[in-house]
Amino acid sequence: MCQSGDLRRPISNSERKVPIDVREADADIPVVSLSDGVVTLRPWSKADAGFMAEAFVDPSIRRYNGPHDRLGRPAPPLSIEDAEAIIDEFASSWRAFIAAAPPSGVAFAITDATSGGLVGCCGVDDWSPADVAQFGYWIGPGARGRGYATRAVVLLTRWLFELGAARAFLTVEADNEASAVVARRAGFVHEGTMRAHSVWQGERIDVMWFAALPLEWAMRGPHEPA
Ligand SMILES: CC(C)(COP(=O)(O)OP(=O)(O)OC[C@H]1O[C@@H](n2cnc3c(N)ncnc32)[C@H](O)[C@@H]1OP(=O)(O)O)[C@@H](O)C(=O)NCCC(=O)NCCS
Repeated sequence: MCQSGDLRRPISNSERKVPIDVREADADIPVVSLSDGVVTLRPWSKADAGFMAEAFVDPSIRRYNGPHDRLGRPAPPLSIEDAEAIIDEFASSWRAFIAAAPPSGVAFAITDATSGGLVGCCGVDDWSPADVAQFGYWIGPGARGRGYATRAVVLLTRWLFELGAARAFLTVEADNEASAVVARRAGFVHEGTMRAHSVWQGERIDVMWFAALPLEWAMRGPHEPA
């Protein structure tokens, strides 16, 4: 999750359904900010590398978000330099997006809107030529259970639909009940389960598929946490 993907058909700014609220924080990282007053999503900056590296020590994040080998063994934890390199990749995806590419590979830092403190990550893993967006997320272990993930998914989904996504989806390993709660509460429909679709420590794992369509999502409404 939260990795940059390949960038395809450029979407010109005139094609975009809504103007993008962008300003340049510095020469390097454009700022796109989304907020509901409780959670704010903003691009990652190099200063956030320590938080990212620390989060990737967490076993659940390494299991559900980190890279694995073909037997499902997680990669070693990230060094600060690894985290900085990932943040650099996010920044280049943001620059491509601002220059009119789809938002594939862009990632937001999830922050507490009041304190500004970092709590997690959500990002667009892929945007297909048919305008189908796949995304992922994680919340640091110290900030879970406060509704941050659900709010972030609602903000991200609204943004993807405003950009013209015809469908948004995410995949959740079948034993990841907290993430399935987030997907359902954010208004996503469980469309099915892909049997033995993933592997973890040598065992095949079923993977749930959740999706939302713009009109249906607007009518159903997400169940945002109080
Ligand atoms: C899954 C994750 C993103 C949820 O983040 P969060 O900010 O705690 O999510 P929220 O607070 O919005 O909602 C979580 C809900 O799941 C519930 N929950 C937590 N653990 C649960 C479990 N084992 N079984 C059922 N429900 C569970 C919580 O009680 C909460 O619901 P509530 O508010 O009604 O009590 C976070 O736990 C995480 O990052 N986990 C590790 C990595 C991961 O799973 N990433 C997602 C990959 S798809």
